[in-house]
Amino acid sequence: MTAHLDTDIAIGGLFEEENSAEIVNARISADANPRLAEVMAVLTRHLHAAIKEIEPTHEEWFKAIEFLTQTGQMCTDWRQEYILLSDVLGATMLVDAINHRRPKGATPNTILGPFYVANAPHYENGANICLDGKGEPTLVSGRVLDTTGRPIAGATLDIWQTNDDGFYDVQQKGVQPDYNLRGLFTTDADGYYAFRTVKPRHYPIPADGPVGKLLGDLGRHPNRAAHLHFIVTANGYDQVITHIFTPDCQYLHEDTVFGVKKELIAEFTTESDPAVAERYDLSVPFLAVNWDFVLTPL
Ligand code: BEZ
Ligand code: FE
Repeated sequence: MTAHLDTDIAIGGLFEEENSAEIVNARISADANPRLAEVMAVLTRHLHAAIKEIEPTHEEWFKAIEFLTQTGQMCTDWRQEYILLSDVLGATMLVDAINHRRPKGATPNTILGPFYVANAPHYENGANICLDGKGEPTLVSGRVLDTTGRPIAGATLDIWQTNDDGFYDVQQKGVQPDYNLRGLFTTDADGYYAFRTVKPRHYPIPADGPVGKLLGDLGRHPNRAAHLHFIVTANGYDQVITHIFTPDCQYLHEDTVFGVKKELIAEFTTESDPAVAERYDLSVPFLAVNWDFVLTPL
């Protein structure tokens, strides 16, 4: 009998169901980038554990491969279906939470989303960013502060939201005016900002691809709770990528990308002060949100 068929001879390194992940991970070279080696070892361990728990058939495994293939094929310069997958699985919010642990009282981050556009028009405080005239006029104003309550002058607020039909301008080129409901504002010497907009409404994330189909197959809706987006930046402070949510949205407790944090739910009050209305070119009554952003030092 030849040596390689001798069952008494220990054969190391061969793949078996019981030691599958360890065998795969043992192939990682000692010269590999240590972070890559760590990440791949953990992912392999969890992947093998999931497969052992699920015990997929070949057909089921191929369906998973097809899903990932279609997700990749859906990606273009304008559409990132993998980020959408990360969003609806809560992975985007988890990575963000791990990377932005802020002290109590500081404005928390939430999801950036795919509809941010750099270099929006820079407006004077009080300007109206709603260019299509649709929706409920709303005055948003407040201050940018540090964690001790001191105002931050010269902070930049980069703002974007959907129109009253639930679409961002970039989703409706030629239908909405360019830069509709987008704008850059700078806080004054007392840290104040103000702008006119319209009350945001809920809207579905792009659901015409494999991620939308997955949501449907799981009996999940694709809707985001109504929100305004902000990126607040100031020299010497940690940039905040965040939202303000409306308190009365039907999806507040079931945002499809898990972006809602209780600290980000604002009050939208109905106001009738004629002096304020005149100053911001509003008719009474109008909606108002008073909202401060609190930044942490770098
Ligand atoms: C958004 O808020 O714009 C958004 C976030 C995640 C996925 C799709 C849209
Ligand atoms: Fe959004």
